[in-house]
Amino acid sequence: MTDSLYYKTDEVSNKLNLKALLFITVIFVFIWIMNLLGIFINDTQLFWKAAIFIGAIIIVVCIYFRIAGFSRPEGKYVLLTALILTINITYVYLTYHITLVLIFPLIFAALYRSKKVLFITYAINVVGVFISTPLSYNYGLCDANAVLTTTSTVADFIEKFPTLKPITETPVLNLELFYALPRCLIMIGVIPLLTHITVVIDRQTKKLIESQETNLRLSREQQNTQQKIIFSLSSIIESRDEVTGEHIHNTSDYVSFLTEKLQQKGEFKEVLTPKYADLAIRAAPLHDVGKIKISDAILCKPGRLTPEEFEKVKLHTVFGKNIMAEIIGDIQDSEYLDIATQMAYCHHERYDGTGYPQGLKGEDIPLCARIMAVADVLDALLSKRHYKEAYSLEKSKEIMSAEYGKQFDPVVLSALLDNWDEFVGLYTKKRSSAAGIVENNVSPYPQAS
Ligand SMILES: [Fe+2]
Repeated sequence: MTDSLYYKTDEVSNKLNLKALLFITVIFVFIWIMNLLGIFINDTQLFWKAAIFIGAIIIVVCIYFRIAGFSRPEGKYVLLTALILTINITYVYLTYHITLVLIFPLIFAALYRSKKVLFITYAINVVGVFISTPLSYNYGLCDANAVLTTTSTVADFIEKFPTLKPITETPVLNLELFYALPRCLIMIGVIPLLTHITVVIDRQTKKLIESQETNLRLSREQQNTQQKIIFSLSSIIESRDEVTGEHIHNTSDYVSFLTEKLQQKGEFKEVLTPKYADLAIRAAPLHDVGKIKISDAILCKPGRLTPEEFEKVKLHTVFGKNIMAEIIGDIQDSEYLDIATQMAYCHHERYDGTGYPQGLKGEDIPLCARIMAVADVLDALLSKRHYKEAYSLEKSKEIMSAEYGKQFDPVVLSALLDNWDEFVGLYTKKRSSAAGIVENNVSPYPQAS
């Protein structure tokens, strides 16, 4: 985990350095504009040669990252080589005016938090400087006219600078000794500083990642503990009316199934984000938490409820909302609480507006509650309850389909019906050993769930 996160930070460095490469190109173009305005006096032909080289480098680098992505380990070497080439080509073009830019590749390399990368970059850059220095005095415009008055060739340059002569009779070697070598030595001067920065960044990055991992682990542990407590409490509440803890797990699984199918179809994109779906799945077990305030006499009554009793059962939605506000109100994650409250309060609302407790209609009913409604009734149909036997899959599908656009949101229900075979696979897998599926039963529809 640490390694993957640690190397993932290379992605960030790669993206930063690609931006740096593009920015250097922009500066190169800017210099050309200055040239056009007559502020600089550079050679057009040389500009085009340099521009073609730099353009080719950028295209190759962009294609590479497009294909390979930013996370591959060798990506940094591709990018640093491209930066060294671009900077050295620019250096050939602009000569000693921009000597300082030769340090840039080392600064970019420091972002990778590796002394090895830093030294490799230095080595490649030294080679680049030794190649580009004589080229710059041969082809670069510099201010040859000002210094040399007439020419910029290496031979003439040496001619104009007699101090170079005593060292060697080879002009190129003189340039290397007098210009390339000092620049490479100056670059060594920044190595200790950059090494220090590299080590500091490396240490900070590791600390940050370790801290993130610890927080993530604690957060997951906390989340798992909370979820276990929620499942246990919900199971206890549900068990009062002989609904087993299975209902809690089943409805969570069905909510998970429905949200996944809706997401695959791109439905409710604005609301149904991955986080929303995750929270809805985790909040699903709490949908009937309000039943804790319904008396055993009503909740466990065999057979049908009287209208008065049913009115009392209906209040479990309001109780659920109140419990959520009073007891779980301290939970930091307000989005979770909002969804859990909406599910508990609105899971008996009907799409056609004839549900309870508020009689909300259509999309006025929160999405999580519309999903919960399908999951809740589906499991109630497929499960044995004290007032009925379990329905078969076919019968359940038939009953659910009849409520299309009536009790259930047609889009949410379609996510189930369109993927019915897959749902049957999930159901069969979950209850492969379950018994008690019959075709006929006492009650056609649960009065209260
Ligand atoms: Fe309910």
